[in-house]
Amino acid sequence: MELKIAVLPGDGIGPEISEQGVAVMSAVCDKFGHKVSFEYALCGAHAIDVTGDPFPEETFKICMDADAVLFSAVGDPKFDNDPTAKVRPEQGLLAMRKKLGLFANIRPIETFECLIHKSPLKDELVRGADFVCIRELTGGMYFGEKYQDNDKAYDTNAYTRPEIERILEEAYKYAERRRKHLTVVDKANVLASSRLWRQVAKEMAVKHPEVETDYMFVDNAAMRMIQDPKFFDVMVTENTFGDILTDEGSCITGSMGLLPSASTGEHTPVFEPIHGSWPQAKGLNIANPLAQILSVAMLFEYFNLMEEGKLIRKAVNASLDANVRTPEIQVEGGAHYGTKEVGAWIVDYIKNA
Ligand code: IPM
Ligand code: MG
Repeated sequence: MELKIAVLPGDGIGPEISEQGVAVMSAVCDKFGHKVSFEYALCGAHAIDVTGDPFPEETFKICMDADAVLFSAVGDPKFDNDPTAKVRPEQGLLAMRKKLGLFANIRPIETFECLIHKSPLKDELVRGADFVCIRELTGGMYFGEKYQDNDKAYDTNAYTRPEIERILEEAYKYAERRRKHLTVVDKANVLASSRLWRQVAKEMAVKHPEVETDYMFVDNAAMRMIQDPKFFDVMVTENTFGDILTDEGSCITGSMGLLPSASTGEHTPVFEPIHGSWPQAKGLNIANPLAQILSVAMLFEYFNLMEEGKLIRKAVNASLDANVRTPEIQVEGGAHYGTKEVGAWIVDYIKNA
């Protein structure tokens, strides 16, 4: 297969983990005889510095022209502490999602046996937890009408029926392939937007009798996720709730640095870690590249290249078992491995497999 990849390293630790993702992708393509090309593009604070725009037109063109986007992270503290800033790095990520029509964000939450103890939750609660959060990504408060002056501000949580239907359709696809259990997360006891979600979901549940559909308020879901994470198989929810719940989900796995995601929809799909740009770690060679590397596995799987994805997952598991780990998940007294060393170990494993 021939793959044309747009690479958007972004800010903070982005470029460091991006390098490892690209190296792993190249190694897998070599091994399986795929032809791959990478085209780099600017995004986030870096793009603001160079062009004034966090998602420049040129970047959009490169993304549209590619088969997939390998995205890393955006964000810079110089914008976080300035609520009056007119342009912000995160707008680059949001513009990319909107312009590429990426309405479905797939965030798998899995555990690694050797990292169970890294979760702040009890071992017996997290062992075996395995679910997918399907987060709606181009609607809701993130994109609804906004207003801000010195005395008043609002964000509108707007959803239309077609927006809800297409994300639920996606969620049912996952539920059908998995354990056939879908939990629709909303706040239908308070929010009108949630009541429409629930109404549409109830209509669709009838058309999917093979899947057990249940409904949960988001506050309750937040509790259930840490009380009984094994309850969930596929969870579907709106943009803002999905953002919050998936950070919570990372506590089940034990590190934010382990969770990949795929964003799919109308145009080029994007594969990215769920974590941010961790500016404090920039250049220190300590960021965990595994979320990015596992995003590459999701990329291959998206194109139905299952063996390729499997090899990456096997290599990642082997690196963890061999204690080739970045500091935040290293065992006490274990050897020091940085971003580069973990990436290089995985590339070697793939070459020798
Ligand atoms: C995420 C991030 C983004 C979001 C930020 C960086 C805009 O937190 O992908 O979860 O809120 O969607
Ligand atoms: Mg988030």
